[in-house]
Amino acid sequence: MSLLTPRSVRISGWGSYAPDLVLTNADLEKLVDTSDEWIRTRTGIRERRVAGPHETTASMAARAGRQAISVAGLDVDDIDLIVVATLTPDHLTPATAVLVKEAIGNTTAVAFDLGAACSGFVFAYTAADAYIRSGMYRNVLVIGAELLTRFLDFSDRNTCILFGDGAGAVVLSASDEEGGGMAGMELTTDPDGAYMIWIPAGGSRSPATPGSVASGDHFLRMEGRETYRYATRTLASTALRAIERAGWQPQDIDLFIPHQANVRIIESVAKGLGLPIERMFVNVDRYGNTSAASVGIALAEAVDSGRVKVGDRIVLVAFGAGFTSGAVALTWTADPAAAGRAIPHSVPLIRDPADWHPADPIPPRLLAVLEAHGHEPSARVAMARTEAIVVDPQRETREVPA
Ligand code: ACO
Repeated sequence: MSLLTPRSVRISGWGSYAPDLVLTNADLEKLVDTSDEWIRTRTGIRERRVAGPHETTASMAARAGRQAISVAGLDVDDIDLIVVATLTPDHLTPATAVLVKEAIGNTTAVAFDLGAACSGFVFAYTAADAYIRSGMYRNVLVIGAELLTRFLDFSDRNTCILFGDGAGAVVLSASDEEGGGMAGMELTTDPDGAYMIWIPAGGSRSPATPGSVASGDHFLRMEGRETYRYATRTLASTALRAIERAGWQPQDIDLFIPHQANVRIIESVAKGLGLPIERMFVNVDRYGNTSAASVGIALAEAVDSGRVKVGDRIVLVAFGAGFTSGAVALTWTADPAAAGRAIPHSVPLIRDPADWHPADPIPPRLLAVLEAHGHEPSARVAMARTEAIVVDPQRETREVPA
């Protein structure tokens, strides 16, 4: 293979997808002992999105990814590599990226997943940049996608209030023009935090058993305070390292796109860098923590809402399970108006992941609240009802009746 190294690697397209169903803090008050006031003041979250019964991580990823390709002005087969960052894949195997390739109708790309939890989008960005810089690939689709609401214990107030579903994507492309794109980066991994955020069962160390299901070991567990301490210690220092590598100062940065976990954490990053909160893009109030999807969704929203212009210096920065952290300092080069080329989400996928393997619908506890809520599209709820999830209180498993 002849490797043609580009002059620069730039973001050429961006996109995001968030499911229609909205879960408010008031909804959560009906599920656990919490309050809208507690959630807002401790986290800044007002509502989050919940994937519908026929959505999967791959289907959301495909919609965000397809949008990014259309904004880039590329054909789907111009993409040589698809990387999906996720901790909630459709299956342990195959990789969710493989399903995305099929869903968008790409016939050419290599596709694989990357696991770095909430830092996944930033990790995947740096991997894609390196592949393109080496001359190996020219257009890489990077997607962060999560369907966390199917991995949450909706009786655990420590976790279920925090997370939501969605997907964010960029296309990174080789460019023959000098400058622009990533100027500095930093990635860290701290195994001392390995069991601070985890899903205990379902992997090779603790395969699924009736006992693991009964004890809720397939749900996400988190040591909130330790994670908070790690995040406030690490986010600013990781961002700073990437900024220094770019040869910039924090005050040179036009906009930070931090991982949207908690507005207090974002405020502490601003404080740590000596910057006003206005330099931080914040949308955690509307999506909660969408883990690997969060930075991608925030970036797409920042561009589409006019917060980013050509020549701006941007920092993407995230932390997450592992513990991991990552930051990319980049110069924005794409015309924000290209968002007008985005393919609408209403256009069907070439092959919807849920069509060739039915999705397990919304968790029953959550479905009941969403139904009472009344602002979910009735067709989707009807679909969930006809699949009539049966909850067996003995085993706490869910089965679709024959
Ligand atoms: N509603 C009401 N009370 C609550 C809730 C709730 N939802 N959750 C906890 N509490 C209670 C606790 O039980 C505790 O009560 P106590 O004092 O009687 O023991 C009290 O509120 C304070 O609890 P803390 O845990 O100290 O609350 P804190 O201010 O630290 O906020 C939070 C908790 C929001 C989880 C915070 O620690 C946090 O944001 N941590 C970081 C989490 C995160 O960002 N994870 C992202 C990475 S995830 C990934 O990679 C997948």
